[in-house]
Amino acid sequence: MKPQLNVSADDRELNKQLCTYIHEKLTYLLEQSGIISIGVSGGSMPKVFSKAFLHVTSEIRNLNWKRIRIFMVDERNVEIEDEDSNLGAYLKLFPEELHEIFVPFPYHKDVRHSAREYELNLRKYLLPEQLNNIARFDMLFLGVGPDGHTASIFPGRERLEKVNELNWVGAVSESPKPPPSRVTLTLQCIQHAKNTAFIISGRQKAEIVRGIWHRDFKYPAAQARPYNGKLTLFVDEDAAVGIPNPESGSESDSTPPPLG
Ligand code: 6PG
Repeated sequence: MKPQLNVSADDRELNKQLCTYIHEKLTYLLEQSGIISIGVSGGSMPKVFSKAFLHVTSEIRNLNWKRIRIFMVDERNVEIEDEDSNLGAYLKLFPEELHEIFVPFPYHKDVRHSAREYELNLRKYLLPEQLNNIARFDMLFLGVGPDGHTASIFPGRERLEKVNELNWVGAVSESPKPPPSRVTLTLQCIQHAKNTAFIISGRQKAEIVRGIWHRDFKYPAAQARPYNGKLTLFVDEDAAVGIPNPESGSESDSTPPPLG
């Protein structure tokens, strides 16, 4: 299925498009039952996502916040006070009374220990639907790097350090993007998401947008396409040059190669 494509000329238009998307998905998910699990990424996303999400939710009457849980798709293995903490960045942007909707990140010096405890938290706080023992999170918001990484899954390092008994989360000790120690959802878990959205801006990422659109699986970001096909791209005009002719391509239903 061809991804939904949203091209924005500026931050204002991007925010408008994101609000429409979040409102549409949240309204649908609120009509279902259970916890609504929303995974977000770091880097430049905290500002962009928080602005849209807080605006949309401020307009939903009698919103039952107990049903909304936000978690980090990937996290740097640092204390929450550290400036590199993704969760820390989001908590600075959300009002205190909403901090309880975030899944805690259990920092330990040993990143494998953090990964183990983080997966237990995801299980405990999100109680997600599962398929083949893999969580099916409701919404994921992903960024990409110019190298084609997404979350903390880097080209040529798609196979994460396996932490026994874990299926959803993996540990990274030598991330090419600082800081080196990270915890991240596995590709398999990302591919099982119900709704996946990429938020991508800048000319330096146009090649990766092209790779996602044309399923160029040398990029982890392209391998992150959801199995069920619900993929939405939010790209600015600079990043959109990667798909000069959005009408073409992307029909093929090839799925990402399984991790060797
Ligand atoms: C992280 C991120 C990472 C990020 C991309 C894009 O914790 O570093 O989750 O995957 O999304 O590197 O970052 P920018 O949006 O800042 O370019």
